[in-house]
This record gives sequence, C-alpha cells and structure tokens, in this order.
Amino acid sequence: MSKSAENKKVPTAKYQVDFGYSKVSITQKQNLVNDVFNSVAPSYDIMNDLMSLGVHRLWKETLLDWMAPRPNQVLADLAGGTGDIALRFVQRGGQFAYIIDINQQMLASGQKRKVMGNYKNKLNWLCGDAQAIPLADNSVDRVTIAFGLRNVPDRTKALKQITRILKPGGRFCCLEFSHVRNQLLSAIYDKWSFDVLPRLGHLIAGDSQSYQYLVESIRQFPSQAELSLMMADAGMSQIKVKTLSGGIAAIHSGWKID
Ligand SMILES: C[S@@+](CC[C@H](N)C(=O)[O-])C[C@H]1O[C@@H](n2cnc3c(N)ncnc32)[C@H](O)[C@@H]1O
Repeated sequence: MSKSAENKKVPTAKYQVDFGYSKVSITQKQNLVNDVFNSVAPSYDIMNDLMSLGVHRLWKETLLDWMAPRPNQVLADLAGGTGDIALRFVQRGGQFAYIIDINQQMLASGQKRKVMGNYKNKLNWLCGDAQAIPLADNSVDRVTIAFGLRNVPDRTKALKQITRILKPGGRFCCLEFSHVRNQLLSAIYDKWSFDVLPRLGHLIAGDSQSYQYLVESIRQFPSQAELSLMMADAGMSQIKVKTLSGGIAAIHSGWKID
C-alpha cells in the first residue's frame, strides 16, 4: 500500500463513524455516547435486567466460563461500566481486575453496589479511554470488553491498544450484541427492539432516545467475520467466536502470541 493510501486510512478527529444510524465525527460520537451513559448511569443495572429479561447475566457467565480465571491472572475490563465482568472475574478466583471506563458516573454507580465492598482489594476503578488505555505495555493477562466496543468511536485503535497491554500469551474476549440470522427470531427481536425497548427506556430511565441509539448501534455493529478480521489486523491470533442466543450476542476470543 502506498504511503498516501495508508494515511487516508488513519482516522482523524473529523473521520465519520456511526452513531446509531447517523454519521458523526469521532469526537462527536464520544460526546454523544458520554451523554447516553450520563443519562442512563443511575438506572443502568436495572434496565439491563429488564431489557434482556435477565439474559445478559447468562451471557456474562458464559464469557467467564470461557475465560476460566486463575488466581495468578490480572484482568483489564474495558468499558467496564458498573463492574459486572470484573466482579465475576474476581469472584471466580481471578487475582485482580481493573475496571476502566470513560464515564465517571457509570463507575460511580458500580462503586455504590454493596457487593463491591467485599472485593475492595481486588478491584481498581479507573476513569480512562479504551482508545488510550492507562496501563503499561504487556501488563495484563486478560482483557475483556462487554457491550462496550460498539460504543467506542475508533474500534481499530482500541483493539490495537488491547494487544499493546496484553502480555504475550494473554487473551482478549469481547462480549457484544451480534446479528440474528433466523428470520422468525429476527422478526420477534426487531419487534422487541424497536417497539418495546425505547418505551421501557422512557418509562424506567425517562429517556427513550438512549435506547433508540442502543437498538440502532446494534444493527450497525460489524459482523462476526468483520470483527474477527479487525482483531487479526490488531495483532491477535487463534480467533474464535461463540454465538449466543441465536446471534443476539456473541463472544469473540483472541490471543496475543508474542
Ligand atoms: C453498555 S455499557 C457496558 C458496561 C459493562 N461492560 C456491562 O457489560 O454491563 C458501555 C460502556 O462503555 C463505556 N465507554 C464508551 N466509550 C468508551 C471509551 N472510549 N473508553 C472506555 N469506555 C467507554 C460507557 O461509558 C459505558 O459505561
């Protein structure tokens, strides 16, 4: 590839990315995403249970089953929000977890959870950007991002950062909404997503727009094959995908070999 073609591929602050069905600059997207999570932070956990009918808990357990934490492992959970993944990691015997999120209000909601008090010495809550992770090169054994990558404006940059902080032999797992193939399930899922979710958002969180963004952003997220390629481009190997609930969600796993 010529130098100029390479340069064209490098996203700048003006590079257009999706925000739901709209196109905005990288900076605008981060600001809009921050507005979404500022608005939903106080009701985030309850909304998660309602919107997924509790199924997000099963997906998170599946992620942890696949990761199988060990007592010598340190995790960085990016876009960690209220700490669900990090909590499960240390509960299942992982040594220590960083919860890294760009939104202080999401972190504050998580820190208020009673259960977190039992794991004070095993959790470190950091306000930081997945596109510029505040951790050293080759410093963690595991990296996770659950329902976060979709919200990160420059996903390529975040994936490169993930490879940077992983130790050689370390593993990355991404839990994210994916794409339903079965027509009947897809019709039911669309009805739930477009008709019910924004109304639930209005009723419980007083905010339907944030849940409209959620629904649209899911449809815009890369396919499993595209995300696997992006992980490979970022330097990860042995990429595998587990499809969950007929494609409503998926876990992508990749390793940093050296
Ligand atoms: C849907 S929540 C997921 C929270 C948690 N991982 C979970 O599974 O419940 C998405 C999170 O991504 C965070 N986020 C968005 N952009 C980010 C970025 N550039 N760096 C780090 N976190 C980001 C938001 O603040 C929000 O807390």
